Amino acid sequence: MAKNYVKIGMSSCGIAAGADEVYQALLDFAKEKNLDIEIKKVGCLGMCWAEPLIEVKIGDEKPVIYRNVNKDIAIKILENEVFPELKIKENPKQKKIVLRNCGKIDPESIEDYLENQGYQAIKKAISELGKEKTIEEIKKSGLRGRGGAGFPTWLKWTNCRKVNAEQKYIICNGDEGDPGAYMDRSILEGDPHSVIEGMMIAGYAIGASKGYFYIRAEYPLAVERVQKAIDQCHDRGLLGDDFDLEIRLGAGAFVCGEETALIASIEGKRGYPRPRPPYPAIKGLWGNPTVINNVETLANVPYIILNGGEDFENTKVFALTGKIKYSGLVEVPIGTTLKEIIEDIGGGIPNNKQIKAVQTGGPSGGIIPKEYLAHPVSYESLEELGSIMGSGGMIVMDEDDCPVDVAKFFTKFCVEESCGKCSPCRIGTSQLHRILKKISKGKARDKDLPQLKRLCFAMQQASLCGLGQTAPNPVLSSLRYFEDEYKEHIKEGKCRAGKCFNK
Ligand SMILES: Cc1cc2nc3c(=O)[nH]c(=O)nc-3n(C[C@H](O)[C@H](O)[C@H](O)COP(=O)(O)O)c2cc1C
Ligand code: SF4
Repeated sequence: MAKNYVKIGMSSCGIAAGADEVYQALLDFAKEKNLDIEIKKVGCLGMCWAEPLIEVKIGDEKPVIYRNVNKDIAIKILENEVFPELKIKENPKQKKIVLRNCGKIDPESIEDYLENQGYQAIKKAISELGKEKTIEEIKKSGLRGRGGAGFPTWLKWTNCRKVNAEQKYIICNGDEGDPGAYMDRSILEGDPHSVIEGMMIAGYAIGASKGYFYIRAEYPLAVERVQKAIDQCHDRGLLGDDFDLEIRLGAGAFVCGEETALIASIEGKRGYPRPRPPYPAIKGLWGNPTVINNVETLANVPYIILNGGEDFENTKVFALTGKIKYSGLVEVPIGTTLKEIIEDIGGGIPNNKQIKAVQTGGPSGGIIPKEYLAHPVSYESLEELGSIMGSGGMIVMDEDDCPVDVAKFFTKFCVEESCGKCSPCRIGTSQLHRILKKISKGKARDKDLPQLKRLCFAMQQASLCGLGQTAPNPVLSSLRYFEDEYKEHIKEGKCRAGKCFNK
């Protein structure tokens, strides 16, 4: 790395805000003035509210991050003009393990990854640890799946490893269909090699010679960068005969993120879930033992192997959105409170409004009212509150948001995304949505609330896959904490937030 540099966040968020124009202008300027400076593309630093964002280091000065620059401002910064109002710092409450390289290295350069301990972990796994000890380190770390269900990663790997089979597979689930969630996209765009290395280690531990990335087609930049990274690994002999990787594209169906539907989709069939057992670890892709792990889960793996599982502090990346000053990606130790995330990192609620609740876990999650903000964010505590950690969507609601309206939004999403294979979900989601629409239009009666609850219960018990089993969660959690507001809609024709009745 040259002594002088400008790093520009060039993930989808930065590019959407105009980062490519800033990048090109800086390249041209540096060339024209013959400056001794490296102009470097990097991934997203997580501060999506501040894009386009640049980090500048000149001489022996400490690097400085500037927010919301345009090409003129960026050039003036290189001409030594000072913009104190644009200087920002990374929040020290965050702990970056998964996002360790995002915003730091060039995601399109394998050399950058190698300079940052890249592909040292797979080397250590093979030459020092061996398969069993590799899984042992993952067990010691306490790593659990970040794709939603929180299943212990070591146990899934062990179950697959124990099966005697000629062919096994590892799949990286990059489908990320939850509305509001985009951490997996950002990891794939900002640090694709770390996920590839995680897949190599998983593949080695379970005995798989082939792996697939399943990435939604709506993520073209992620697909491009992962493909580039795979090609670079081929060129260097890191992928090839013993273990190889390929990309398969999803076509925007939420249900294709469910592991059995995802497998069907890769097999070229319609993306329908099937009953489990058998679990994919025993009988997966083309009937062979298959481990499916989420992008974020896999990005943790090289770090754990390099640094040891014993002292590993589990983190979670959240996509913090909604009524929040600083929206973006936040990586915090598990156990950080909702209040710390929202107030200390997210900067609190804009426009002098009051916080009302926070929605976590997307369409499978729940609405947690402000009284519980002191609760730590962990798999267990969020479940106790009637929500889930899920994949990491976190939407902040203020007093202008209505719980009935939010429940209706997620239910509509599930109506559209239900694959229709089983009737509890196909009919249940439509019926839930029908009743919620009635409530929000002031046309519901007293008997509709108990019916809503009965429907939710039936769906939880009888649906075939996680989509239908968890689709009632936004409804049930909003009823648990905001039943008085539901009743106001029904009995008084009143929506405190002013959201309903006119739609
Ligand atoms: C409807 C539905 C959608 C899902 N979508 C995703 C997804 O986009 N990404 C993901 O990693 N897991 C998703 N999952 C969870 C996967 O089925 C699976 O549990 C996960 O990929 C396993 O990886 P992990 O153990 O590393 O979390 C979804 C589950 C359901 C029921
Ligand atoms: S629960 Fe819903 S998404 Fe899952 S199989 Fe049944 S209809 Fe399809």
